[in-house]
Amino acid sequence: MRKTLVAGNWKLNGSKDSIKTLVTDLLAGMSEVTDTQVAVCPPYIYIPMVAEMLEGSAVAVGSQDNADQESGAFTGEVAAPMLKEMGCTYAIVGHSERRSIYGETDADTANKYAAARKAGLTPILCVGELLEERENGITEDVVARQLDAVIDLEGVEALADGVIAYEPVWAIGTGKTASPEQAQAVHAFIRGKISALNEDVAAKVQILYGGSMNAGNAAELLAMEDIDGGLIGGASLAADTFLPICKA
Ligand code: 13P
Repeated sequence: MRKTLVAGNWKLNGSKDSIKTLVTDLLAGMSEVTDTQVAVCPPYIYIPMVAEMLEGSAVAVGSQDNADQESGAFTGEVAAPMLKEMGCTYAIVGHSERRSIYGETDADTANKYAAARKAGLTPILCVGELLEERENGITEDVVARQLDAVIDLEGVEALADGVIAYEPVWAIGTGKTASPEQAQAVHAFIRGKISALNEDVAAKVQILYGGSMNAGNAAELLAMEDIDGGLIGGASLAADTFLPICKA
């Protein structure tokens, strides 16, 4: 039985004060969250502070990205072993904002997945189609291509060490959520594709949904057979919008 994971992706938001408040409020509400794994992914610079505040709690810390290299002359990058050392358990890789705004390719994402995995982090591999790709009926082709980049580099077994997040790009930050049926169809496709290569990995891997998930729609999305949790953007920025999703 797969556990439910709800992870907050704070993106480029927060300040020292607002993050302290958010983490304090989260900790206060966590006693009501049972049977759900919870994680938060702050901007890099706040990771040590958040990790220290969450030490010994049930809330894990993740990064929003990591370098594909371990060390060396790579100005501005942060390496996976550094993130691990500073308290991260998870690392988001291949978020659509990294792909579309910063031009990261499937190959870049696969290399980052490999680096996170090598450092002992649990990579959260984001996949998902653009609106235009959905309208052209190529959602499954796009998601398959994004998954294959990791499978070809690391082998299907590598997916057992990670989490997959299906985030339809047209649903991110738009208030437009995929219907539970739309999301379930892609989640089932992803699990089926993995299952054709390795049934054990497919049965084990958590597949999260992301894209305008909130307290109002979380329960019906999470009720779907292949939706094992959520990757939450906007609604993860305050405890009173994030905790109800964790409880759902
Ligand atoms: P929103 O929940 O703001 O749509 O963002 C989703 C997301 O991109 C999480 O990684």
